[in-house]
Amino acid sequence: MTPVDVLHDVDAAVALLAAGHLCAIPTETVYGLAAIATNPNAVARVFEAKGRPSDHPLIVHVADVACVGEWIAELPEWAVVLTNAVWPGPLTIVGPRTQLATNDITGGQDTVAVRVPAHPLALALLRKLRERSILGLVAPSANSFGHVSPTTAGHVNDELGTYLSEHGDAILDGGPCQVGVESTIVLATGDQPMILRPGAITQADIERITGVQVAEATGEAPRVSGALASHYAPAAQVMLVNAEQLENLGDAQKTAGLIALASVPTPVGFTRLCAAKTANEFAAQLYSAMREADQEKISVIYVVAPSGTGIERAIADRLARASAQVRG
Ligand code: TXA
Ligand code: MG
Repeated sequence: MTPVDVLHDVDAAVALLAAGHLCAIPTETVYGLAAIATNPNAVARVFEAKGRPSDHPLIVHVADVACVGEWIAELPEWAVVLTNAVWPGPLTIVGPRTQLATNDITGGQDTVAVRVPAHPLALALLRKLRERSILGLVAPSANSFGHVSPTTAGHVNDELGTYLSEHGDAILDGGPCQVGVESTIVLATGDQPMILRPGAITQADIERITGVQVAEATGEAPRVSGALASHYAPAAQVMLVNAEQLENLGDAQKTAGLIALASVPTPVGFTRLCAAKTANEFAAQLYSAMREADQEKISVIYVVAPSGTGIERAIADRLARASAQVRG
């Protein structure tokens, strides 16, 4: 099999995308599988590559906060303040769509999700595309549907390399992602922000920046595909424990792994998968630690998650989904 093309040059990625191909791109959160948002054939191939159901909406990535009006018809004042403050950054805003945001992007919903990513290569790419009047890229996380999101170019290759090489698509390598968990998604159709998916931009950040209280998420909130019970899942079983439970586990099963802050000691026989010093480091390393577990054929990953209301919420959210996996 021919290996997938790994690019280091933004111009090569621009040319490939403009020709209708897919290109996995680095962002500050996770790698995305990008296609030109206004090319329906390329957008359809994104769903095909991921094995993703077509009613799951995509995020449109744009070059600058000033571009948001091309995709979102109107935003409340608090959302304008928020996007001006945070973008480029790990925040996605969902608002009423314009005509540019077609059904294939939104999964038939009347809202669209938009973000300006902070990775320098992604930004350079989006700006160069814009010079060619290409107004945005759809980019879901560059993993097979239901798998853990990739945080390095190598992870993308593990997930989608065969499909990409068979179709003449490529990966733009921008190094490991800094944030490591997907962007915070905020619904911006009402007087108050509602968090649909927690991420590195926290509830406290949003309230401090906007001066508006975040609303409780309700069952009426639009569907977020990452909100399926089983998602972001490695092959190994994920067991959430606290430090005390970990100590009481006794002698480790041979194939047990541990993801925890460095302050939590490794029980005898466990494979240490992550020893982050801070919650931010924990988030940045979480997905690669899960992938390492699969590579090492670890059967159970014990996770002691940091507690708190900042990025710890995003960590807890992804871990709950990874551990809710149905096995059979
Ligand atoms: O950090 C990120 O957001 C990454 C990087 C690559 O930008 N992208 C990402 O995309 O996580 P994806 O497709 O894996 O997750 C996008 C989420 C999905 O859960 C989807 O349901 C939700 O955004 N979404 C998209 N459009 C939406 C809409 N109109 N209403 C509600 N949720 C929406
Ligand atoms: Mg995803």
